Amino acid sequence: MDAGKKDRKPILLSGIQPSGHLALGNYVGAMRNWVNLQEDYLGIFIVVDLHAITVRQKPADLRNRCLSFAAQYLAAGIDPEENVIFIQSHVPQHAELSWVLNCYTYMGELNRMTQFKDKSKRHDDNINAGLYSYPALMAADILLYQTDLVPVGADQKQHLELTRDIANRFNNTYSPTFKVPEPFIPKAGARIMSLQDADKKMSKSDDNENNYISLLDPPDVLRRKIKRAVTDSAREITPDSVNSSGIGNLLTIYSVLNDSTPESVAQKFEGQMYSNFKGELADSLVAFLEPFQDKYHKIMSDKTYLTGILDEGAERAKYMASRTLSKVHRKIGLVAPGRK
Ligand code: TYM
Repeated sequence: MDAGKKDRKPILLSGIQPSGHLALGNYVGAMRNWVNLQEDYLGIFIVVDLHAITVRQKPADLRNRCLSFAAQYLAAGIDPEENVIFIQSHVPQHAELSWVLNCYTYMGELNRMTQFKDKSKRHDDNINAGLYSYPALMAADILLYQTDLVPVGADQKQHLELTRDIANRFNNTYSPTFKVPEPFIPKAGARIMSLQDADKKMSKSDDNENNYISLLDPPDVLRRKIKRAVTDSAREITPDSVNSSGIGNLLTIYSVLNDSTPESVAQKFEGQMYSNFKGELADSLVAFLEPFQDKYHKIMSDKTYLTGILDEGAERAKYMASRTLSKVHRKIGLVAPGRK
């Protein structure tokens, strides 16, 4: 790999917490755009395990999930030759910069974060300091690599805005140090909803597995979940179906899988029964996920290949991250090691 040449491309960076099961919402809101944008950027794709431990995880599951998620990044079409893929905890600069950025982040800002409020409600027996300062770690992930673009779903917009505020604050206090990143939030599919409760977003760590589509669900499970997905009390698709939460969500999913828009999908199926449309949607999902799953299983059966990619990714990331981190240390007045 020609590192010098690749480093001149703008930087695209994103990450997913290895919790629960990688879900269709994650693919549609984020991963799909990683794949689509990768050609014009140097992509940095992280399995953010340090974020995942803000909620209690079973150690053995977490370990397996880190490799499984990385394999799913590859199965989705991320080219490991052209991008940097690694596990967050393998690059200690993330934790180091996050400490520094914590000192440039106000409690008033963290108090406003909706993800913190939601997770505190869901895990009220474990509202830990890591959960609270999580956005400073996410800012570190992004700012370490002088990132240009961050493709995420709508729920991460607030964290991205805080990252930009922290970067600007630091740059204005000292001198330009961090690139101020732009979010990339897709027009359709930025917020895929739960299949059973269309007012709630689809979450990979939902306790009820009927609420989400796992990218690794077998065909019969996919068909069953789509069949059971909630709609409204009407029976036929109309152009207005795009505005009805349950069926609108299914139209969005179909549109993304078929490179269309929810409006043209509603037009295509106008007058057809919901059950018929659901059957077509299930076919599209199976056709999309079958090759993905084949590729995934091949990658998982060759752990040497997979860990080789992650090791190489971590080495490259360490090099890039340490350049930003030493700049930061110098600007704030920390003494460089080895200085007499
Ligand atoms: P996480 O792990 O919750 O979700 C991973 C990505 O999937 C998107 N997403 C969705 N998009 C559409 N519809 C949904 N229902 C849906 N659910 C999740 C998320 O917006 C996200 O893009 N804090 C981040 C992880 C992170 C990160 C980063 C992201 C840590 N460091 C640096 C970007 C850059 C998170 O909790 O995502």
